[in-house]
Amino acid sequence: MEIKSAEFVISNTDVRKCPEGTRPEYAFIGRSNVGKSSLINMLTARKGLAMTSQKPGKTLLINHFLINKEWFLVDLPGYGFAQRGKEGRENIRRIIESYVLQRPQLTCLFVLLDCRHEPQKIDLEFMEWLGENEVPFAIIFTKIDKISRGRLTENLNKYKERLLETWEELPPILLSSSETKDGREEILDYIQSINR
Ligand code: GTP
Ligand code: MG
Repeated sequence: MEIKSAEFVISNTDVRKCPEGTRPEYAFIGRSNVGKSSLINMLTARKGLAMTSQKPGKTLLINHFLINKEWFLVDLPGYGFAQRGKEGRENIRRIIESYVLQRPQLTCLFVLLDCRHEPQKIDLEFMEWLGENEVPFAIIFTKIDKISRGRLTENLNKYKERLLETWEELPPILLSSSETKDGREEILDYIQSINR
C-alpha cells in the first residue's frame, strides 16, 4: 500500500474528544520504549511525525494521524514505565483502557513486543485482558535489527509457546525494524487486508 499523505490531527487524554466519524483506525500499544512512535514514523516514512525518545515515557497522549485522508494510525502511551509514579501510571492506565474499550473505530490494536526480551508478564497479561474484552489485536515484534536471526527465531518460539498456554490459536504475528524498515510492506499490507 502506498502512503500518499500522513498528517497529525489531534492529541488528547479523553477518548470522547477523539476524531468523530467512522474512519477505521489502527493503534499501537506496548511497553514504554518498545518503539511505537518510531514505527509510525517508519510506516508513514515521515521522520518526526510522532515524537520519539531514547527515554521511556515520551508519548503520554492519544495521538491521531490521518493517513491517505481515509484512515487513522494512533500512537498511544506505553504501559509499565516504573519511574512515572503511582498517580502517573494510574492516569496512563485509564487513558489506555478507555481508548481500547470505548473506540468502535479501532479495527486492530497492534501490541508491540521487543524481540530481544523473554516473554514478559505485563505483556501476556495485557493480551489476556484484550482477549477477555474481545479486542482484535495482532503482535508486532520490534527492533529486529538488534539481534541475530537465530536469536530472533529462538525468542519468537518462546513467545509462541507461552501464548499457546492461554490461547487456542496465535494472533497474527509481524516483525519490524524502524531502523532498516523491515516489515513495512507486511504491516501496511496487513492493514489493507483488514481495512473495512
Ligand atoms: P513511549 O512513547 O515512551 O511509550 O515509547 P515508544 O514505544 O513510542 O518508543 P520510541 O518510538 O520513542 O522509541 C524508543 C527508542 O527505541 C528510541 O531511541 C528509538 O530510536 C529506538 N527504536 C525504536 N524502534 C527501533 C528499531 O526498530 N530499531 C532500533 N535499533 N531502535 C529502535
Ligand atoms: Mg511513543
